[in-house]
Amino acid sequence: MDTTTFLGERYGLAGRIAIVTGASGNIGSACAVDLARAGATVVAHYHSNEPAARKVADQITAEGGTCLVVQEDLSNPVGPERLVDRVLLEYGRVDVCVAVAGVRTRKPAVATTAADVSDLMATNFHSAVTLAKACLRPMMRNRFGRIVVFGSTAGVNGLGGHSVYAGTKAALHAWVSSAAGEVAGRDITVNAVAPGAIRADDLDFHSASEVELVLKFIGAGRMGEPDEVASVVSFLCTPAASYVNGACVQVHGGARF
Ligand SMILES: NC(=O)c1ccc[n+]([C@@H]2O[C@H](COP(=O)([O-])OP(=O)(O)OC[C@H]3O[C@@H](n4cnc5c(N)ncnc54)[C@H](OP(=O)(O)O)[C@@H]3O)[C@@H](O)[C@H]2O)c1
Repeated sequence: MDTTTFLGERYGLAGRIAIVTGASGNIGSACAVDLARAGATVVAHYHSNEPAARKVADQITAEGGTCLVVQEDLSNPVGPERLVDRVLLEYGRVDVCVAVAGVRTRKPAVATTAADVSDLMATNFHSAVTLAKACLRPMMRNRFGRIVVFGSTAGVNGLGGHSVYAGTKAALHAWVSSAAGEVAGRDITVNAVAPGAIRADDLDFHSASEVELVLKFIGAGRMGEPDEVASVVSFLCTPAASYVNGACVQVHGGARF
């Protein structure tokens, strides 16, 4: 077998249908483009920022790929299932599901309200789990599936000022390692990717002094790029990653948070 055929079969996603939630966001947009470059037909989901999702679709199309843009509020209990139904109607299958959509709120634990907990659980945990569940049946029928949910180093080590957010991410890590063992026999993998501090054009969320402090704890001496997260996600979605299952892969540049 020549190198191109080998790489295509092991690391390519030609003919695969890949859902990316939060494709309008910083990391999700990079994931959508990277999966399309690997050959997948991408379903680029957004919630409120349609122009950003359209920009991603335009880039994918300009590079010769195929992309369908779909809107859905995934904090709505029926949103994830509606999204998968739409994809099944369009393509009749789903092979890859990357649940990037998520929200973060900064609040001291002592000030957290019941509504804060419900909102973060709905968008970060409930949406990813119900989306994955809706993908599992068609994946089980096809005897192939790759599910990647988005955790965070905050869910591994904790993050002061973000306790509920960290809790939702830790819950996802635990869910992944539990669900993986139930479906592994059908060439289905369920993994989490847990980014550390990833650069965004809009860094309003952190003050300059916070960024400076964070960088002191990152071995690489810089924040990560969205592309550096996307390439790990894409690898986990390939046939080559068939024995990586139930993992939480941290992408943090050697951080010691
Ligand atoms: N950035 C980091 O340093 C970092 C670190 C660790 C983990 N993470 C995780 O990585 C993921 C992406 O982070 P990011 O920085 O790229 O975030 P981002 O740019 O803020 O994007 C968030 C995405 O989530 C979508 N979203 C928000 N609420 C939604 C809802 N109710 N229903 C459906 N979609 C919704 C947004 O859609 P619209 O914009 O269309 O509304 C957007 O596409 C998140 O899960 C985050 O927790 C990020």
